[in-house]
Amino acid sequence: MNSRRKKILDLKDHLNVADPGLTFSPAGLIAKKRDGKALDVNEIQWFIDEYVKNQIADYQMSAMLMAIYLKGMDKKETAALTNAMLYSGKVLQLKDAHVIDKHSTGGVGDKTSFIVAPLACACGVKVPMIAGRGLGHTGGTVDKIEAVPNFNSGLTLIEFEKNLYTHGLVLMGQTEEIAPADKRMYALRDVTSTVESIPLITASIMSKKLAEGARGFVFDIKVGCGAFMKDLKSARLLMNSLSETGARFNRDVLASITDMSIPLGRAIGNSLEIIECIEILKGRGPEDLKQVSLHLAGGMVYLAGLAKTHAAGIEQVTKALNSGAGLAWFKKMIELQNGPGEIVDRYEMLPIAPIKTPILARKKGYFHRIAPIDLGLFLVELGGGRKRKEDKIDHSVGIVLEKNWGEKIKKDEPIAYIYHHPHQTEMVQYFIQNSYEQIFKISSSPSPKRKLIFETTIKRSFKHV
Ligand code: URA
Repeated sequence: MNSRRKKILDLKDHLNVADPGLTFSPAGLIAKKRDGKALDVNEIQWFIDEYVKNQIADYQMSAMLMAIYLKGMDKKETAALTNAMLYSGKVLQLKDAHVIDKHSTGGVGDKTSFIVAPLACACGVKVPMIAGRGLGHTGGTVDKIEAVPNFNSGLTLIEFEKNLYTHGLVLMGQTEEIAPADKRMYALRDVTSTVESIPLITASIMSKKLAEGARGFVFDIKVGCGAFMKDLKSARLLMNSLSETGARFNRDVLASITDMSIPLGRAIGNSLEIIECIEILKGRGPEDLKQVSLHLAGGMVYLAGLAKTHAAGIEQVTKALNSGAGLAWFKKMIELQNGPGEIVDRYEMLPIAPIKTPILARKKGYFHRIAPIDLGLFLVELGGGRKRKEDKIDHSVGIVLEKNWGEKIKKDEPIAYIYHHPHQTEMVQYFIQNSYEQIFKISSSPSPKRKLIFETTIKRSFKHV
């Protein structure tokens, strides 16, 4: 019996997993989901297996994704989908109890991974970050780090394990070896408007995270108009879905719901976001980004058993930030993956578009709105994200907010800069002219106080299996 089939059968009692010998019709299963019926584990397992073997076409998978998006999945279906996607590739075994990863559900300017991972690592956590690419209007960790010249995000699993267990920190994209079903479905979802689905997000995140061999995960569930979850109710549903799936697979989960009603930090765009993270690690940079990063990194230290409480974990990572240990680990991570460590002091090594066009305030006052989706979609328009899954990313373009929530703004003062190429000047002017009122709202009254972290839950379920 091959080891994959054995794994599936070993998990059968636990998850009620399918016998992979059965066959079904793709159109029949799509119709079943389209009509709102629950798929059983055999059907889900078969559909994913056949897709990975190229026996189900992208157009059929797209139809299934849309059916799931529209009709949803119950907990049992979500667990079966996670399991099928997880075992579509290799699953690494836990070799060190301090291995903890962090994952965000995605937002605009959401770049905490580059701060959180080195800080947690500086405190003794081993961080196996297998991250995603841009999705919809949100940027992807791997696309961002690839702004660093020569950075190798395509490690083999042998290199991945070597870096993780000898050095404690690795950041790479999904290979064909880790949850290949997710890699392909993720790219399809990005271009078929099927991202904002709790079962699809759960299975996507959990399948690749479970494959890394970590004992637990910190999840940053973004909520607000710039996130996939627009309100607290749906963010809580996603938080429960991730925590319950983690528990089914015997992993510890700390999940926080954090604000994405405006972009996180000030920079949006691949190179610009890397610079902002280095600034935070140098003790500068925007406060909102710093606070969320410390909260998440502290959660990792706590889950790893290296601090007695979450608060004590936050204290430890704050010290690592202040001492420069986090910055040193960021530099080391770049060097370990073939990039130039000196980039932390030489930002000119990153590609930055040559033209910087200001957006000027049309009146004085305070920000009452900075619409993240419009900014995220404009970044895609500039080439900083993908419209088609084959698109190449332009790391050099982006937007930097000069003013943030709560700050006083004078009329005609620059509130943001757009970094772009000469041939995009007309498009940029058109965007400013036509989208300003929709994106920015400046009012005369001071802005209401922003709540950054809404709630946190911790579910301890770790068991060696
Ligand atoms: N992040 C993922 O890895 N997958 C999703 O579906 C959404 C965010």
